[in-house]
Amino acid sequence: MSTILIIDDDDQLRKSFEKLLSAEGYDIRCAASGEAGLKLVETESLDLVVLDMRLPGMNGLETFEAIHAIEPKLPVIIMTAYGTTETAIEATKLGAFDYILKPFDIPDMLVVIEEALEAGRFMRSPVDMNAVPGQQGVREAIIGRSKPMQDVYKAIGRVSSTDATVLIRGESGTGKELVARAIYQHSLRNDKPFLVINCVAIPENLLESELFGYERGAFTGASHRRVGKIEQANGGTVFLDEIGDMPSSIQAKILRLLQEKSIERLGGRDTISVDVRILAATNRNLEKALAEGRFREDLYYRLKVVTLWLPPLRERRDDIELLTRYFLSRYSREMGVDNPGITAEALQILRQYPWPGNVRELGNCIQKTLIFNRGAPISPEDINQAISGQGNVEGGGAFAGDEGVQQWIVNALTAGGSDNLFESCMDRFASMLISEALRITGGNRSRAAKLLGLSRPTLHSKIEKYHLKFETSVKETS
Ligand SMILES: Nc1ncnc2c1ncn2[C@@H]1O[C@H](COP(=O)(O)OP(=O)(O)OP(=O)(O)O)[C@@H](O)[C@H]1O
Ligand SMILES: [Mg+2]
Repeated sequence: MSTILIIDDDDQLRKSFEKLLSAEGYDIRCAASGEAGLKLVETESLDLVVLDMRLPGMNGLETFEAIHAIEPKLPVIIMTAYGTTETAIEATKLGAFDYILKPFDIPDMLVVIEEALEAGRFMRSPVDMNAVPGQQGVREAIIGRSKPMQDVYKAIGRVSSTDATVLIRGESGTGKELVARAIYQHSLRNDKPFLVINCVAIPENLLESELFGYERGAFTGASHRRVGKIEQANGGTVFLDEIGDMPSSIQAKILRLLQEKSIERLGGRDTISVDVRILAATNRNLEKALAEGRFREDLYYRLKVVTLWLPPLRERRDDIELLTRYFLSRYSREMGVDNPGITAEALQILRQYPWPGNVRELGNCIQKTLIFNRGAPISPEDINQAISGQGNVEGGGAFAGDEGVQQWIVNALTAGGSDNLFESCMDRFASMLISEALRITGGNRSRAAKLLGLSRPTLHSKIEKYHLKFETSVKETS
């Protein structure tokens, strides 16, 4: 459960926030002054701070600076009133995650809170390299001992300690995001922010202002200045995920950032110097995009200097068993079930399958066999069912459809049923329903909960239970 500290001198507001956010499933701490808040930052393990700018005694900006000095990776969201945004903007320049304006729009605020928590997790949860399954506890790990993966670890080692721009390439599901996080964590900037921008998840017209920020009046609706992610990450690292999908007008600005280390806010005249390290990833065929004029040549050559290629899973089949054991132990622990193990015959099928969706697909497959498992070691039938069902749980995309579900029901009943057949059938429907709701809402849990008629904490616990994760990226391996 995530712990959020609210620092505000307004008793009423603190109380209503506490009530609202507790109901959303967060663990809440409160402080009425900057000084009291700082004590909690020093003594408690927090995941997020929501900080009011107008405080008696130590003011909001001073409080932010002190928090940031103690815990640079603890995300802070600033609360501020219309007309007094200047200091909030100042705080975002200094690295605050974002600010929200009073009076609050609650659904928007909940989205910002989720984003900030995720950014904090990215910065703080380590990615182990070359880990041994079962030994890395709850940590995320890059698994694989094959030669191609050994080369990847070496490359991560070489590029981490430099400030070089790194382009991470490879098919969908090969672990590009995981590698970006590992590079950051092993870099000299690992005590500074790490911000992820997914170039396909953000609509084209918003991407530019998200990255570069804007000045008041830059466009209709720009009622105040906004600091972009690149400026916010000053001193740190920005990960441009799915860069192959970035519109070319923005590509030009990224090139300029790489060459001149400066940006301009939209509608602004000042050139702002920034010191950020850029990591980028794509599963697109950039050479084809180049030939078709969809990707700028100058940016392509600038980015490709340091390229890290991730091998598709079918080219490192020796790692399949290791990955399978890792996913079995990780997902069974997360789902709170016993690890049923797997038969040699089932492993053989996994080793032979081509895995077009790479490690992600293997992970989904194992997760599915666990959802429907009734205690016996994973068998070839379980695997075949999980693969042919092709319900991409994570992407929420096409699932088995009525026929698939009916076939599954018939198989289960004719196989003699089981103690928990009813429950596991309900689980299957529930997980499909929730994936679909997440897909439709673009991964927005608040809206998905509303669609499903569930409270957010209930939805949250089900997402954890079924290990559903919605990734907004559009997959293509052209
Ligand atoms: N070597 C690995 N060891 C353990 N888990 C891995 C490994 N590679 C990928 N994964 C897991 O597979 C899933 C997909 O990985 P990731 O998101 O990094 O892929 P990607 O290359 O960014 O894919 P896409 O191009 O579709 O965005 C994640 O859940 C990740 O944790
Ligand atoms: Mg990715």
